[in-house]
Amino acid sequence: MLEKLKQRWGVNELNLILIICTFALGGSLCGYTGRRLLVLFDIDKGFLWVLLYIILITILWPFCVLLISIPLGQFNFFTRYLSKIWKRMNGKNKNNASISVAIYASGAGSNAARIIEEFKDHPYIKIALVVCNKPGAGVLKIATDNNIPVLLIEKERFFRGDAYLEELKKHSIGFIILAGFLWKIPAKLTGAYPGKIVNIHPALLPNYGGKGMYGGFVHAAVIANKEKESGISIHYVDELYDHGNIIFQAKCPVSDDDTPDTLAQKIHVLEHQHYPKVIALVLQQMQNQR
Ligand code: GRF
Repeated sequence: MLEKLKQRWGVNELNLILIICTFALGGSLCGYTGRRLLVLFDIDKGFLWVLLYIILITILWPFCVLLISIPLGQFNFFTRYLSKIWKRMNGKNKNNASISVAIYASGAGSNAARIIEEFKDHPYIKIALVVCNKPGAGVLKIATDNNIPVLLIEKERFFRGDAYLEELKKHSIGFIILAGFLWKIPAKLTGAYPGKIVNIHPALLPNYGGKGMYGGFVHAAVIANKEKESGISIHYVDELYDHGNIIFQAKCPVSDDDTPDTLAQKIHVLEHQHYPKVIALVLQQMQNQR
């Protein structure tokens, strides 16, 4: 249950505890203030009292949780949370609102190509941007062939500037897919997209992940350790390499005569088969929760 809430709200354990405390303290403050205010009306406890109390606490509740959220450091979360409730009440967030997605890739882009294909003509998911840090990478041609705008990024602004949040905003990006993107994702980006960035790793995490574990290095390590199986891991992204919660894994056998190249081919088959489908499910879930 708590794990589900963490994922749904895209927060870590400490923030989840603080959010729950805010709900509890905000609720108590709201009840207390409601009762104190009713004293001013000087009416007997009865039907009218209860009715007024319910109306009062409904009005007071958002203000109380917002107030409590300030000292507990959860103000940003609660402004987002309350604005979602507000939109829902006004019927603005119907399930047909579209989600614009950015794919971050810096390699050949075979996964990006599959994902683009999967969501072509999708009713509410739009691949709106391809972000790449390597001029000349194969994925750039795939993007152009599919009329998808490309954003070429450089280290300084990505790691020490605004992490290109301004550009993402321009394209209304609501979700990010990493598909062969090798740079670490800075806290600015994970903070702006909590629970909304996914990655695929070509091994069975938590093994064979972390800094330096990419592409051929992963497969070479798997073979060197004489593993009998390897596979893919699709996971949420946090500030650490290959660390966020795992959403999905699939396995394939490693045979004695496998080389990093042959193993990479097997892994690619799994990636192409599952990554687009898993993303579709994650986005569907996200849409249902809006
Ligand atoms: C994939 O193997 C993926 O697991 C890893 O990078 C590779 C990208 O391949 N993160 P491609 O560029 O999609 O062909």
